[in-house]
Amino acid sequence: MSRAISLHQVSKSYTRGVRVVERLSLDIAPGEFLVLLGPSGCGKSTVLRMIAGLEDPTEGEVRLDGAYANELPPADRDVAMVFQNYALYPGMSSRENIGFPLRLEAPNADPGPRVEATARMLGIADLLDRFPHQLSGGERQRVAMGRAIARHPSAFLMDEPLSNLDAKLRNHLRAEIAQLTRTLGVTTVYVTHDQGEAMSLGDRVAVLRGGVLQQLGTPRTVYALPENVFVAAFIGTPRINLLRGIVLAPLDGAMSIGLGRQALVLPEPLCLDHQLLRVQQGREVIVGLRSEAVRLARPSDARPGEVAISGLVEHVEFQGHEVLVHLNTGSRPALVPDLEAPRAAAGSAGRRRKEGGVIGRLRGRAGGLRAGPVVVLDPSEETGADRDDPPPPDGRLPGDLIVRTTPDHALRHGMQVPLLVDLAHLFVFDQRGVRICPAPARLPDLEE
Ligand SMILES: Nc1ncnc2c1ncn2[C@@H]1O[C@H](COP(=O)(O)OP(=O)(O)OP(=O)(O)O)[C@@H](O)[C@H]1O
Ligand SMILES: [Mg+2]
Repeated sequence: MSRAISLHQVSKSYTRGVRVVERLSLDIAPGEFLVLLGPSGCGKSTVLRMIAGLEDPTEGEVRLDGAYANELPPADRDVAMVFQNYALYPGMSSRENIGFPLRLEAPNADPGPRVEATARMLGIADLLDRFPHQLSGGERQRVAMGRAIARHPSAFLMDEPLSNLDAKLRNHLRAEIAQLTRTLGVTTVYVTHDQGEAMSLGDRVAVLRGGVLQQLGTPRTVYALPENVFVAAFIGTPRINLLRGIVLAPLDGAMSIGLGRQALVLPEPLCLDHQLLRVQQGREVIVGLRSEAVRLARPSDARPGEVAISGLVEHVEFQGHEVLVHLNTGSRPALVPDLEAPRAAAGSAGRRRKEGGVIGRLRGRAGGLRAGPVVVLDPSEETGADRDDPPPPDGRLPGDLIVRTTPDHALRHGMQVPLLVDLAHLFVFDQRGVRICPAPARLPDLEE
């Protein structure tokens, strides 16, 4: 009933030479809820449409229950698709919309009982005689879901089904979708660019960037052990702080990571992950600190594994239950261009391949990294700006670190505040953006 879906080295080009999906391999187990997550234009809908049979892969294989399915017509795939814009027939009532695919399947059977059972399941039994223009967005989306469910398909393919709804309704329907798919036990591939939605719904999350799979794992794994800077920055709110650092490992002194005006001194004896950083001596790295890795507290309050730095308050963002403090620690942030300007990344796979200069060289070196460098260490390389741009006139850099704290801290712009960094939550990425700490080989058993 529920179907296994596999993609094997699947690529897609709409225009010659420009691959919008690149050698994607995924094995989705029967009954699994898999989320395809990534910024706009990264190829999510294209992947879903190839599974549905609405697009042909340029290369590679789509398999359904292990059988080659590239040439199987959409109608023979036994999958139901739910679109972002509902795609209801405007001249049909909800009853007719839900019953439509059933009539196509079995023209002589009465779809009534199935339509009514589905509508009861979705809480729309009293809306069956209304037309789409007489329904709210949330109700229309339920009708669209009903049309997919009534057929009892062996897989659901959902393309941002909630993105047209307001936040409250989205959260509500999100919970309903989770419950419904669990009850039905049907394999579901769900596309979204909303990491919160992905994390709350998925058994596993596949993170895409520029058509290339960056990481596939449970929500816990992609959050706790992002394989590269892109995944680290795409998942989690507030976004992870990414600071440019340099590894300093003198033979006769304490090892540290320089962060501009300050440094994180790594406590002795060094843990294995920090020992492994020694080979990076003198190299630039990217330090990743999620907001839970830093707290506002005095050095005397430090617990084992915490090191003290300080920051100047630039801005305080009140959120009700907490505040986000934007601080200047004198370090330089690392940029993740696909995230700073997600639209710009769309369709740029071909353009990227032609880039020369430092970006091109970095990409050439990238080797194991599955989509070229995800990070820009020197913004002038990306923008063409003069490398020797003078620092801002007052010598100050904009806030480089965002820290969460409780609203009872009396914080004002311009205050210097003490910070403690918990090194147990320290991420270090190399110049290409690949995670090197925690070391990639040491994968704690996070999969449930
Ligand atoms: N029919 C098409 N012809 C040419 N290019 C296309 C076509 N469909 C999509 N593309 C391009 O392929 C890339 C991936 O598109 P796709 O719709 O899969 O992205 P997406 O991740 O679903 O984005 P969004 O979040 O904005 O829906 C984009 O650069 C898009 O411009
Ligand atoms: Mg899309």
